[in-house]
Amino acid sequence: MELNDFLKEKGTDEKLAQLIMLFSEQAGVIKEGFLSARGAADTKNVYGETQMALDKWADEVLIDALRESRLVRWIATEEQPDIIEVEGAINQFGVTIDPLDGSSLIDVNLAVGTIVGLYPGHVLEPGNTMVGALYILYGPLTTLTYTTGTGVHEFVMGNDGRFTLMQENLTIPEGKIYAPGALRKDYLPYHKQFIEQLESEGYKLRFSGSFVADVHLILHKGGLFTYPAFAGKDSGKLRLLFEGTPMGKMVSEAGGAISTGRGNLLDVKPTAVSDRTPIYVGGKREIALIESIVKGSGT
Ligand code: AHG
Ligand code: MN
Ligand code: MN
Repeated sequence: MELNDFLKEKGTDEKLAQLIMLFSEQAGVIKEGFLSARGAADTKNVYGETQMALDKWADEVLIDALRESRLVRWIATEEQPDIIEVEGAINQFGVTIDPLDGSSLIDVNLAVGTIVGLYPGHVLEPGNTMVGALYILYGPLTTLTYTTGTGVHEFVMGNDGRFTLMQENLTIPEGKIYAPGALRKDYLPYHKQFIEQLESEGYKLRFSGSFVADVHLILHKGGLFTYPAFAGKDSGKLRLLFEGTPMGKMVSEAGGAISTGRGNLLDVKPTAVSDRTPIYVGGKREIALIESIVKGSGT
């Protein structure tokens, strides 16, 4: 079944369905840039990170399409310093976008993706107010996974650029895989204890450097992704709005959970679009373990 028909059959809010279809239609456009927009641009984003040409390409493609459609009122992206308000917006939706996650991997042909959080209004609200989330993963296949609160569903893009259903009501299984970001030498004591616990239980390491690809793996195979707070960086590296809340919404809807280590990341009220956050995301068992270790550590 095609994405559009599936959204209709599920009784998805029509405006939300239109927005999801709009993102699905940009996948092919973004991919066109993979051959041409290569290498680093000569600019940095608000995080001081060198922007890859493809980061900027994907950002422009998505912002232009959203502005033209007027389907959203607020646009926040990892590559923009400020929130964009769309002139003449038809709907009140807000979107938070990581246009290209894992972009440092483009030059070595590993899987990267586009991450989108869907909010009913302004985006400086907790993730638990979201109406949905989606990500497009550019791997051997190009897939689109979305949730609007009634299950997590995955589609694959055909040669004609249309997405057809691959898996409905995806739920996170139990699995002994862990994806540990940050440098071991910088681990804080409670995090070191957590990682050593997983390793003592025989968890296998899988970490590619692309958050969306690594979380996609955990979503399908079970386990835990973490990019924690570490020495000198209490908030860790990853962004609350562009990585944390969208993938947290997705994994939570699939029966998993997401935490800052101290509590549910989806309960966090952002202070600014550029907020960073420690991330633990995956199976409920692993999340309960880190939260109990943090609690017991008194940090
Ligand atoms: P982005 O390409 O959007 O900047 O994200 C990169 C992030 C995330 O995808 C990944 O998990 C993390 O950076 C990897 O960081 P390290 O290179 O420090 O491991
Ligand atoms: Mn990212
Ligand atoms: Mn990015």
